[in-house]
Amino acid sequence: MSANLANQVPGAKCPFTVKGLEGLDPYPHYDKMREYGDIVWDEGMKAWLVLTADGCRRMMQNDVSKLRFWTADLSDEAKEIQGRRGLKLATGDYHFALHSWWVRQFAATGIEPFREPGIRPLVHNLIDRFIEKGKVDLIEEFAAMLPVRAVCVIMGLPWQDDKWADECFEIMKPIEQFFNYSTVGGDDVMQAARAAANKMNRVLMPFIEARRASAEDGNDMISRLLRDGPTLRADWNDEDIVTNVRHLFFAGSETTVHSLASAFNVLLTQPEVKDQIRAAGDKGIPNFVEEIMRLYGPVQFRTRKANEDVEIEGVLIPKDGAVVSAQGAANRDPKKYPNPNAIDLNRRAPRDHIAFNSGPRTCVGASLARMEMQEAVKAFLERIPDLRLDPAEPRPSLHGFQLRAFAPVKAVFTPGKKLGA
Ligand code: HEM
Repeated sequence: MSANLANQVPGAKCPFTVKGLEGLDPYPHYDKMREYGDIVWDEGMKAWLVLTADGCRRMMQNDVSKLRFWTADLSDEAKEIQGRRGLKLATGDYHFALHSWWVRQFAATGIEPFREPGIRPLVHNLIDRFIEKGKVDLIEEFAAMLPVRAVCVIMGLPWQDDKWADECFEIMKPIEQFFNYSTVGGDDVMQAARAAANKMNRVLMPFIEARRASAEDGNDMISRLLRDGPTLRADWNDEDIVTNVRHLFFAGSETTVHSLASAFNVLLTQPEVKDQIRAAGDKGIPNFVEEIMRLYGPVQFRTRKANEDVEIEGVLIPKDGAVVSAQGAANRDPKKYPNPNAIDLNRRAPRDHIAFNSGPRTCVGASLARMEMQEAVKAFLERIPDLRLDPAEPRPSLHGFQLRAFAPVKAVFTPGKKLGA
């Protein structure tokens, strides 16, 4: 069947699959799939794939009522590890209330107070550690260190204490490994994840205790959880607080590390973009960050299962059938974005992508991720203007599957001075 003919039939079987694309550049592949329709059957994934920007957005608006989130099918033990009352497992009215509360905390008035006194000094502190060397592994020495400390900043946890912050990062690894962004590991991985969740709770509890007395005046997120939690549910308790804090560490880490890596890759491999950023004035850095998210958002797809027979983009998805929002494809949908594969800092609506999802489960921490990336790009452009790929190291290439980013990203530059040195 020719691709054009297939295009007439929503849900047509497509001869291509995204399965097996680990470690490859998926974008040309999405273009080939798109020729078979806006929504296609992917035999390898055993799922329908929605490939358009508008289609993915519409699908994600359905989320709670008709399409269930992957956590709903977890085993009891896995639910324990996630935290039964945290955002990922909450459903219905409680999810709506908790999600809306978090969205308010991350709105401009809630998050901007952390930029200048918190995120900016943190970024400079990390740069100071390597600036005199003239070379840097941008993932290991910067991207991997920023997000966990940024969450510490907004929680009022001791980000300056390396031993403490690195321990948190290490403790979370088995949990990350277990869930691996929506697939789950086996028994031994689960035991390690359970131990890690308990350990993280023990690490966090003393800070919650210490904050209790002063929570009325605190602006950090733990104080806000202590203050407002009881308005979210009558039986709110400390476990709710540790679960929420853990979720933010977890959701805000790997995703942001990958996004930073992709931003650095573009700055190093397309150096002319630096001039475009400077030429665009105040909107240069924010729009660059949005284009990185649109072009290289690390979350390639999100899977949902039908709670009942449901029509998605003209296809009847039977009860328990799987449907995938292919955000990586949707963000380069040529029907929505002219010249979709190019960085364009002057797009009409730069934030109109779905790298952070959309609908009832949209990312609550997007503004923090944006802030980290903006502050990082700003600091590197100012302090290390001649940052360039290290010719002695392998070139970055795309890694991962559901979560994708460039690695390794190693650079050299003219050594500079520590701030204040
Ligand atoms: C560039 C970095 C980030 C990306 C690409 C990203 C992307 C996403 C996506 C696609 C979802 C939706 C998942 C789904 O519906 O299946 C999501 C949810 C979420 N994100 Fe992010 N995220 C990022 C950073 C952060 C940060 C920094 C935080 C917080 C500190 C955060 C907290 C959350 C939470 C709590 C959810 C769950 C919302 C819910 O289930 O109601 N994310 N994120």
